[in-house]
Amino acid sequence: MALNVTQIREDFPILKREVNGKPLVYLDNAATSQKPKQVIDSISHYYTHYNANIHRGVHTLSQEATDAYEQARKKIQKHFNIAHNHEVIFTSGTTDGINLVANGFSSFLKTGNEVLVSAMEHHSNIVPWQMLCEKTGAQLKVIPMSEEGTLILDEYDTLLTEKTKLVFVNHISNALGTINPIEEIIEKAHTYGAAVLVDGAQSCSHIKPDLQALDVDFYVTSAHKMCGPTGVGMLYGKEEWLHKLPPYQGGGEMIAEVTFEKTTYADLPHKFEAGTPNIAGGIAFGTAIDYLNEIGFDAIAQHESQLLEYATAELLKIRGLRIYGTGKDKTSVISFNLEGIHPYDVGTILDKLGIAVRTGHHCAQPIMDFYKIPGTVRASFAFYNTMEEVDKLVDAVRQAQNMLS
Ligand code: ALA
Repeated sequence: MALNVTQIREDFPILKREVNGKPLVYLDNAATSQKPKQVIDSISHYYTHYNANIHRGVHTLSQEATDAYEQARKKIQKHFNIAHNHEVIFTSGTTDGINLVANGFSSFLKTGNEVLVSAMEHHSNIVPWQMLCEKTGAQLKVIPMSEEGTLILDEYDTLLTEKTKLVFVNHISNALGTINPIEEIIEKAHTYGAAVLVDGAQSCSHIKPDLQALDVDFYVTSAHKMCGPTGVGMLYGKEEWLHKLPPYQGGGEMIAEVTFEKTTYADLPHKFEAGTPNIAGGIAFGTAIDYLNEIGFDAIAQHESQLLEYATAELLKIRGLRIYGTGKDKTSVISFNLEGIHPYDVGTILDKLGIAVRTGHHCAQPIMDFYKIPGTVRASFAFYNTMEEVDKLVDAVRQAQNMLS
């Protein structure tokens, strides 16, 4: 069913504002999505009516806050088709979830072990594993990518051996929009007994992953890419892994019993949730999931693929424009450069015209090194973007080219 984008845009107060005297055209959705009033209201409702700490009080407000927070955990469980509620760990975001797992694996890895990472990862899915390898003596190996920005799976087959203990890959590349074949990657890793962590930061606003069907060991994402607030995310881990991994941070909430001689840890999921969490954020994450499901992921995918197809065709009509990430499986992210023009200069002119895009290396310097470029201009579309906004982008890029050549 086609989306009623005009009506959907009414939910997003920010889309009514102007930037530099022009109507805002927000095309930086891969950096963070905008928030519908339902999500904003849910945060404000919590602070106005039942702000209290959770899991800690018998008083009414604490119980209401605890119920709402745990309800959000259940919404996440259902949304991602996770078998057990306690396999959902609230985190501060994708980076936090990755660091939690990397920290835990430092107890298991040793010299001679290998971990594989893809060539198109965000820095947050590279640096924690490098730190892990430095600590344990394990070796980091890279699954290479092709010129079109897709992973070379034959090379993956060669890299996978009995020495491989972990594989890390993003579901969708933030810099290129490539959708990686994670089903195949997970299945092959498992034949060698290796665990797989999938970085879902960029996927969950576009698709609804079924984590049991994927049989993935760990999956991480952030609420703020999914119309939810910043500072909250989720780590899914298979129950057996979450039991094996040691706690990440010590503190209140994650303990069963504390004496000065010995501390025992709380059951899942609380073992990994030390300290007072982002309560309002967690509750609003649940609201964002409800909001997206009400719109429907099939309708979102259909609209975004129309935006992608139209924007790609129109941008490619501009002389000297090159798109990076041209594989057939991709989402509504277009990274591009104009020949002889620095991406920052293009981004600055687009901003003057009210158009928000990201410019630079997109926290994925190895990809920029691969293409031998300093960065790109990245336009990333969401379900609330329109074909008219694509036209404005294309016009603005032409203007930038005229001014800068
Ligand atoms: N990872 C986010 C991006 O790609 C911030 O822009």
